[in-house]
Amino acid sequence: MKKRVFSGVQPTGNLHIGNYLGALKNWTKVQYDYESIFCIVDLHAITVYQSPEELKAKILEIAALFLAAGIDPAHSTVMVQSSVAGHAELSWLLTCVTPVGWLERMTQYKAKSALQETIGSGLMQYPVLMAADILLYQAGVVPVGDDQSQHLELTRDIAQRFNSLYGETFVMPETKLPTVGARVMGLDEPDKKMSKSAPGSNHAIGILDPPELIKKKLSRATTDSNPHVDFDTMGPGVQNLLGIYQAFGSVSEDDMKAKFAGMRYGDLKKNVTEMIVSHLEPIQQRYREITADPAYLLSILTAGRDRVAPIAESTVRLTKQRMGVFTS
Ligand code: TYM
Repeated sequence: MKKRVFSGVQPTGNLHIGNYLGALKNWTKVQYDYESIFCIVDLHAITVYQSPEELKAKILEIAALFLAAGIDPAHSTVMVQSSVAGHAELSWLLTCVTPVGWLERMTQYKAKSALQETIGSGLMQYPVLMAADILLYQAGVVPVGDDQSQHLELTRDIAQRFNSLYGETFVMPETKLPTVGARVMGLDEPDKKMSKSAPGSNHAIGILDPPELIKKKLSRATTDSNPHVDFDTMGPGVQNLLGIYQAFGSVSEDDMKAKFAGMRYGDLKKNVTEMIVSHLEPIQQRYREITADPAYLLSILTAGRDRVAPIAESTVRLTKQRMGVFTS
């Protein structure tokens, strides 16, 4: 049997090239090697307050972006987390085997909770819900960016703890990072990862940004005090720009050196802009076509839900049986 892939994106903020290079681009490659489920994780989004109207629109926008980026709905399942009750159900069952100390150690929890006046308990449970997403489908492979590695380790810890308490139940998922682009940094602050929620108009390049805006943002990207590209002494800003070029173009290390060593930063930025625009323009075009037909998009999400709901039901049933809670 083919291994199953599961991965997800939160419907918050604007998807950026970090999300594309860290996750979506990799998904379009792995989808033909595995049975794949790609999920819009709206229950994760509400761990911090979201305007209901904006959230509703964002879910459809992300679904359209999945398809526009190359997820093939004839082959892969695209679905919304809240449309399958098993995510929330399994999350509770797993919460009961997860020590609070494991959750308090999560770096994303520490970073996100520091920004909140009142910390919702959902924010702390966030990684358990993520474990539930993955274990619900017995996924063996999870393609994500580097910032999710710790959550994946926790998922394995939770699965292991459950299996040792109640007997073999869950498949151990492995993390699949892209070889380049696993951690795209902010253009303005190249020591911080590019993030959907970071302030600053020059921080991230959105997948839907028009070419002129991409050019403007890149022209302002932080470099360093060298006059041109020097692979031995370059700072994180230049390294990030080169990484973005390399990840979009799937270029080898040797070819990168041959092309960019000694190049002036103005020309480097021009090359990076052209590379990004040439990849994003067709995605943006497909996005416009897909969003022009909302009924089509809804039909994909409904079909996705129907395809995976029986898998979810059977895992929840098995988990309940293992734990001894009531199953009718
Ligand atoms: P989210 O929505 O923050 O990000 C979606 C995906 O994009 C990757 N990513 C990046 N990759 C490279 N460079 C960056 N700067 C960058 N920023 C984000 C993320 O690693 C992720 O793969 N918790 C998850 C969503 C989730 C999930 C799951 C993922 C929920 N359940 C189950 C996998 C499996 C998240 O917040 O992703």
